Amino acid sequence: MTAVPVVPGCTWYPGYLSAADQASLVATLRDVMRQAPLFQPLMPRTGTPFSVRMTNCGSLGWVSDRAGYRYQPHHPETGMPWPPIPASILAVWEAVSAYPHPPEACLVNWYGPGARMGLHQDRDEEDLAAPVVSLSLGETGLFRIGGTTRGGRTVPVKLASGDVLVFGGAARLAYHGVDRLLPGTSTLLKDGGRINLTLRRVTKPDWAITTRPADTPRLLPHGSRATALPPLVEGRDWLKPALAGCCGQLVAALTGFIRPSTAPAGSSTTAMRPTLGISSGACSTWPPLPVTADTARSRSST
Ligand code: SIN
Ligand code: FE2
Repeated sequence: MTAVPVVPGCTWYPGYLSAADQASLVATLRDVMRQAPLFQPLMPRTGTPFSVRMTNCGSLGWVSDRAGYRYQPHHPETGMPWPPIPASILAVWEAVSAYPHPPEACLVNWYGPGARMGLHQDRDEEDLAAPVVSLSLGETGLFRIGGTTRGGRTVPVKLASGDVLVFGGAARLAYHGVDRLLPGTSTLLKDGGRINLTLRRVTKPDWAITTRPADTPRLLPHGSRATALPPLVEGRDWLKPALAGCCGQLVAALTGFIRPSTAPAGSSTTAMRPTLGISSGACSTWPPLPVTADTARSRSST
């Protein structure tokens, strides 16, 4: 897997998904869209339609209408809960996010001919410690990403079918958008166009986390036991029995990222809950950024 740095905090993985995996993901997404049909988002206040259509999967979905931008647990037209995020999509998050909790939202953007996405920030999430993971299918999109202030220099990236892009840390609140598609660059979608998935963690997880660069293991105090650790990452419960008998240092070396911020001696894992807060001091990979007042989100949809 080739990892291309784009701007600090943003990494591009061109050709992450094989052609076969892309085709099977499109079939999976057709199923998602049968359960949660594409809808036409509107700009807040003005009601101008976006040029992309959208849907979501996950426990929360991003929507936009005259009332504003928000996450909600149900489809705005059917009123039904969003379908769950398919396992093949969760696997991409687990592989590239370096974040120990699952995403809650997978926004599906459908770009037809002429669709674009104006420069904007993804800033409706409570948990800015998690990166945004983007996956592209179909025609190449001329994507660009810059810094955290509007109007700054941007770096263009041609996001082709199967590409994955991760932006977190210093790039978590970076302005980004899609200028246009390059028609005829893919035959994956039978009528052309492009699908982009963005995976986001929306709420702060229950457990404090400490992430670390892979080469600087974060060891637990010598002699601490794996059984004193909180539950491991959701979706990795299979690790727990395997690790329960090992010493804490081995657990830290294997998992490397999760422990309670306060763990009173002898407390059970449930007694430790909730220990909120993201530890940023020890983390050079995804330091949370302050949100400044002048970074109002805006999407243009011409
Ligand atoms: C988005 O920022 O929501 C979509 C980005 C893309 O389509 O690549
Ligand atoms: Fe975005």
